[in-house]
Amino acid sequence: MLKQPLSQRTEKIRLSTIREVANKVEEARKRGIEIISFSAGRPDFDTPHHIKDAAKKALDNGLVHYTASMGTTELREAICQRFQEDYQLNLDPDEIIATMGSTEAIYIGMQSILNPGDEVIIPEPMYLYYGGWSLLGEAEPITFALQEQNDFLIDAENLKQHVTGRTKAFILTSPHNPTGQVIEENEIRKIAELAIKKDFYIICDDVYNYFLYDGAKHHSIAKVPGMRDRTLIIGSFSKTYAMDGWRIGYLIAPRQVIARALKMHQYAVNCCNSFVQAGAQVALTASQNCVREMVQEFDRRRRLLLSYLDDLRIPYVRPRGAFYVFPSIKKFGLSSKQFSDYLLREARVAVVPGDGFGPAGEGYVRMAFCLSCEEIEKGMESVAESLKKI
Ligand SMILES: Cc1ncc(COP(=O)(O)O)c(C=O)c1O
Repeated sequence: MLKQPLSQRTEKIRLSTIREVANKVEEARKRGIEIISFSAGRPDFDTPHHIKDAAKKALDNGLVHYTASMGTTELREAICQRFQEDYQLNLDPDEIIATMGSTEAIYIGMQSILNPGDEVIIPEPMYLYYGGWSLLGEAEPITFALQEQNDFLIDAENLKQHVTGRTKAFILTSPHNPTGQVIEENEIRKIAELAIKKDFYIICDDVYNYFLYDGAKHHSIAKVPGMRDRTLIIGSFSKTYAMDGWRIGYLIAPRQVIARALKMHQYAVNCCNSFVQAGAQVALTASQNCVREMVQEFDRRRRLLLSYLDDLRIPYVRPRGAFYVFPSIKKFGLSSKQFSDYLLREARVAVVPGDGFGPAGEGYVRMAFCLSCEEIEKGMESVAESLKKI
């Protein structure tokens, strides 16, 4: 047996709780147990046909070789076009790298700006990887708890208290995973002011930017004057076009950051799949009706799930974005892990324990409404029966 130690960097980071739950669901299903899963955070829809057709056509036309590392010009131009149309933001293809999902975009973006001793401020509950990505960049994740009584919203005043001379970046996720909250424009402006005054980057994880309900709007912080030079925008096709298995996303960043990120990207993957990029390009340039229709269906499911939580008198902050609700389970007197295990065993329903999103998530569970209304009904009726026994 080799005596050499393995990397210390990877020792510090942990595997995703979301994937852990997914594995439990898969194991149970393999044993023939029917599980209704509110755990998977991805659309259960098929990728729209016109996108699949574009990728198939690209394969048939021999698009089977490496592309430019940054991504094809056509895809990066399509990203510019979409940002112009949707946010009136003028981008240049040179500010964009097509990545293997937004996961790679956040990873290479963070590795491009972080140095040992830097601090990355992350509101908690959080998408767990943010902490790990900071540690891999030898920076310290500085978390602060979002409060249920403040609707889990970021308050720039609160954020300010965590800014130090070592703050390098703040991670802004709106719509938010796991709470489904959307940050209003006035708060975005205050965060931008603080970033400019204290000189730090904003990493905008915008993977849910089209999943908005109750009239909520997505505001790009990059539009605030003085912010383009300090904003990294993270985009994904996974959620918007139900393409999570395709593994395609992008990083938009100032040119000096892109120059560093390109090195990370080349060393890790060289370039994204050629035919996947062709599909992604069509996703952006074709009609966006498929996105609108999918979001409408998510809204229907959201309302249905919330009505069940209301009936069960389980408190929650009404989600206005993404496809999650983060109800409080404190009144049941179980930890979030115990509660999730109980539901899996008794109700045959999977949810993600809130502590999987950091300690501030304890006392909550994440429920994704990425399943049909019929499944939501069946799952919640089973939850109601099981909760009677607690
Ligand atoms: C907030 C957030 N960011 C990033 C990702 C990564 O998505 P992908 O790599 O599929 O683009 C996810 C996936 O669930 C997410 O919830």
